[in-house]
Amino acid sequence: MSIGFLGSIHWSGKSIAADKTLKVNGQRIESRIMELAKFGRDEDGHGYRVAFTKGDIEGRAWFMDLMKNAGLEVNIDAGGNIVGKRKGKNQSLKPIAFGSHIDMVPDGGNYDGTLGSISALEVIEMLNENKITTDHPLEVIIFGNEEGGTIGSKALAGLLTAEGLKNKSQSGLTMAEGIKAIGGDPDNIQSCLRKKGDLHAFLELHIEQGGILENENLQIGVVEGIVGMMDWDVMIEGFANHAGSTPMNMRKDALLAASKLVVAVNEVINSVPGKQVGTVGKIASLPGASNVIPGKVTLSLEIRDLSIEKVDTLFNEIQKRAATIASDSKVNITFQPQFTIKPALANKPLLEKINSSAKGLGFTTKFMQSGAIHDSQNMSLIAPMAMIFVPSVGGISHSPKEFTKAVDMTNGANVLFQAILSVDKG
Ligand code: GLV
Ligand code: MN
Ligand code: MN
Repeated sequence: MSIGFLGSIHWSGKSIAADKTLKVNGQRIESRIMELAKFGRDEDGHGYRVAFTKGDIEGRAWFMDLMKNAGLEVNIDAGGNIVGKRKGKNQSLKPIAFGSHIDMVPDGGNYDGTLGSISALEVIEMLNENKITTDHPLEVIIFGNEEGGTIGSKALAGLLTAEGLKNKSQSGLTMAEGIKAIGGDPDNIQSCLRKKGDLHAFLELHIEQGGILENENLQIGVVEGIVGMMDWDVMIEGFANHAGSTPMNMRKDALLAASKLVVAVNEVINSVPGKQVGTVGKIASLPGASNVIPGKVTLSLEIRDLSIEKVDTLFNEIQKRAATIASDSKVNITFQPQFTIKPALANKPLLEKINSSAKGLGFTTKFMQSGAIHDSQNMSLIAPMAMIFVPSVGGISHSPKEFTKAVDMTNGANVLFQAILSVDKG
């Protein structure tokens, strides 16, 4: 190991430089990504490590063992977040926190969340192997149920309400039941609260999940802002009746009304200029028989934009269209709000530190926005926050075809490592 002479990282108790020749072990990152991918995998090789399911619980146990082996003091907080602590030279300083999530969407990919989680652990391994003690204490945080509405980070930032705990998660359990299943304490949720100023900074490395970096042949994204999002469960109630003996003009077909609503959502979202997106990603029709007119349909609706006011305006428009569809189709349509995640801006000085760390390693960078939701946006309410992106091949994510090249994962982890050393100095 070579040692430079700038900065103030402690090595074997001595103050030494942040050494740019120290490089993360990319092979270890890649093999751990592949190991983690085995948890929750079905017999066809698809990943279902959905929060609160067996795969999630087992994957978390595996990850916690790695954290403990790396010398972290590991606990699960009341919100179900895994928190691993490493002491700093100066315990009176606020901790620098970094991490991501290891739960996934159904039939998801192997890199969303896992890259930031495994790279956070890699930073700790690097510090251990090079006998570096940072000035600030460090915390690796692996958030619970990111994909179901950033539930763990919401709990941590004081945004998880009693109502929110009652919502159903993708696993079928309520959020409260699920948090309990992963070792949290929903009855005492406020005990995991972090106040503004409790952390020195929060950093998250993540795959881009879009195609901008790849298209522009760039190595590192420096994330300036993350979109906000609102999510609803929609219920359409018609009347289930015989599909042969009920004439077309006497039906209350919930699926027909739902189909009109899906089209209306698309039309409303496209009716104004901007980068807003709206999606109906989930639908269930009951009773679900070819010879029965659908009597009840449930579907999901989510709308995202950098302006939460715009999301609200678009939703109001969708509600108006829904009222017309309901009366034309003789059905009842109700919208049950599930969660809101506010847009977030990254901290400018932190962005600069990430950008100069990346440039210092010789990488090309781009300041950009995130259209995906991240725990980082809840963390921005309590700490200066910034994110690092690396390219996603083909811009594909939330899909088994999600892929990020090993070299890009390694680049991202090196930037995370250098950025943490740099933040520790500042
Ligand atoms: C989380 O990955 C989201 O953007 O939905
Ligand atoms: Mn993610
Ligand atoms: Mn995701």
